[in-house]
Amino acid sequence: MRKFTTVHDIGDLKQALEKAQFVKQNPFADQDLGRNKTLLMIFFNSSLRTRLSTQKAALNLGMNVIVLDINQGAWKLETEKGVVMDGDKPEHILEAIPVMGAYCDVIGVRSFAQFQDKDYDYNETILNQFIQYSGKPVFSMEAATRHPLQSFADLITIEEYKKTARPKVVLAWAPHPRALPQAVPNSFAEWINATNYDFVITHPEGYEIDEQFVGKAKVEYDWRKAYEGADFIYAKNWAAYRHPNYGKIISTDRSWTVDSAKMALTNNAYFMHCLPVRRNMIVSDEVIDSPQSIVVPEAANRVVSAQTVLKEILKDNY
Ligand code: CP
Repeated sequence: MRKFTTVHDIGDLKQALEKAQFVKQNPFADQDLGRNKTLLMIFFNSSLRTRLSTQKAALNLGMNVIVLDINQGAWKLETEKGVVMDGDKPEHILEAIPVMGAYCDVIGVRSFAQFQDKDYDYNETILNQFIQYSGKPVFSMEAATRHPLQSFADLITIEEYKKTARPKVVLAWAPHPRALPQAVPNSFAEWINATNYDFVITHPEGYEIDEQFVGKAKVEYDWRKAYEGADFIYAKNWAAYRHPNYGKIISTDRSWTVDSAKMALTNNAYFMHCLPVRRNMIVSDEVIDSPQSIVVPEAANRVVSAQTVLKEILKDNY
């Protein structure tokens, strides 16, 4: 694996899940693989889980880790090509990327959608520049359109908790006071569509995600029907995708908040969320504090997904 940005980069999904289980059971089995290898983690946006879990994964593999917060202490980067650099950005990403590549063996990048230009976001302009110019293997730590390390961890978690071979998994929109990217729901849909699960996406009208991610999922605008018989509720907010509302909040309808009444419609479903989560906006205290909430083991599996991906990158490139 030279890059990891989508489900397609992981290869056979069943084998990937088996590899993840091996990593989970044997976290220190491959300490030699990363010896004298350096992971550079570059953050254009904030993080708690991705930062800590990916570092932990690299340390488990014997790697050294450098973390750079671009917005705290680095030169402001110009990311547009062909501009006259007479503003407040003294360094161009076209020099910065190969320089960063010279200091490491593997690069992780976090760069969210900016919601100013859908094409700029959906072309993954920043992530692709790292892939093109760094000269090193690159993996996404959440980019504009996808969050594959999160989705891989989500799938590992569902496989661990599912009670039937083909669970009903529901991606459920929930309200939020700020406009959030579509990366997590897009990516979750992409990964769940690679399984044989019964997959339903529910959201208010106007919150349709890009069709390339909807795939074979059933889109259900009535949350009651979506929740009925569900085995997993995966809650998430996202901003509108479709023109002319790209990146905008078009509803904060609290009747979509995941609460006990909704969970009562399910097949005693597990509650999942990628975190961070706004309590009593996305989910009620009662639900997230209940035994059906698996948000913490889900987050713990972020080490497993990151370590499985890093291991494959190291094996294939060094
Ligand atoms: N779920 C997730 O990626 O969390 P962070 O934004 O804290 O890394």
